Amino acid sequence: MKQDIAPSRRVPAAKIQFLPEDRTWIAERIQEVLASGQLTLGKYGAEFEQKFAQFCGTRHAIAVNSGTSALEIILRALGMEGKDVLVPTNTFFATAAAVVHAGGRPVLVDMDPESFAVRPEDVEKKITPKTAGLIVVHIGGIVSRRIGELQELVCKKGLWLVEDAAHAHGSSYGGVKAGTFGIAGSFSFYPTKVMTSGEGGIIVTNDDRINEEAMIYRDQGKASFTQNAHVRMGYNWRMSEPHAIIGLKHLERLPAMIAGRQKIAAIYDEGLKGFRNLSRVEVPAGGACNYYKYIVVLKQKQDRKALKALLRDQYGVMLAGEVYEEPLHKQPVFESYVSGPLPASEDYCARHLCLPVFSGMEEAEAYQVLDALKDVIG
Ligand SMILES: Cc1ncc(COP(=O)(O)O)c(C=O)c1O
Repeated sequence: MKQDIAPSRRVPAAKIQFLPEDRTWIAERIQEVLASGQLTLGKYGAEFEQKFAQFCGTRHAIAVNSGTSALEIILRALGMEGKDVLVPTNTFFATAAAVVHAGGRPVLVDMDPESFAVRPEDVEKKITPKTAGLIVVHIGGIVSRRIGELQELVCKKGLWLVEDAAHAHGSSYGGVKAGTFGIAGSFSFYPTKVMTSGEGGIIVTNDDRINEEAMIYRDQGKASFTQNAHVRMGYNWRMSEPHAIIGLKHLERLPAMIAGRQKIAAIYDEGLKGFRNLSRVEVPAGGACNYYKYIVVLKQKQDRKALKALLRDQYGVMLAGEVYEEPLHKQPVFESYVSGPLPASEDYCARHLCLPVFSGMEEAEAYQVLDALKDVIG
């Protein structure tokens, strides 16, 4: 039965936070670029790149207009034509789509229930002479404790490792930041992410050649900004100055935003300990998670839609979207890439939930979520 819950007692699934003083700061700089006419590939984009590279500890960062294009550019720079790329089946459409757009063929790998990423043994089984490399995705911001084994495996087989770190700004394992485990990493600044630039993405790398190629690809394949010699099949993948300005402010706030999410996650960690019908996807010892998502797994498969409606209508708790409701091999567009069963992903995609977590979330809201879960799931 639907109850009337005051808006002040509702816990949203997610929220984007731009503090009033940050909105003023952003608006002033957008006024400045509007007046100057320098609206793309200008000083704010360069500053954003320099500061994001510094944040990750890489030599280079190349800002672009989305996380999807960031990944496609890396793959184009690596050369993908006619090759296979190992991709987790538990990821967003864009991870595998970027491989297809870059001329490669995604080979889907089952998921590791412990981290929601991939297991080295599943990856190894799928390697053939046609394999060029592996893309790892840090689901929900968790870097798998097995990332070192994955690095060793690809190294031994002469392959490359690329990270789709769209979820993982500021996450790390063993003190190594997400985005820096392989030859290059891509991030998304889509509004649902831990930090946003409105729309946008960025490539981080220590590889000078990928850096140079990325700058060429993002600007219509031009050899340089001022020359009209097109040397690569690039695209308009540039980030505009207003987007870079928004991103700069959120990047400055990122450590505090992550700390706020970690505070909420710690309340969930403690509060969920007594639950028998629910388990947590845990951050490994030695890892740091930005909590893009807080993932829990239901012991038994339940009608997730009905459960979410009950939590919303009776308790004012909105659950965030799943990561992911369906694995990629169940998506019609990737049907032709399916080779063999991927049972763990089907099971866990159907049985997990994501609890609300966002910048500026109050501790009381986390306790409200726990109380609701206790009643409904226990
Ligand atoms: C894992 C993953 N890869 C890639 C992307 C694509 O990022 P964007 O939406 O910025 O293109 C997203 C985000 O939406 C994502 O979650």
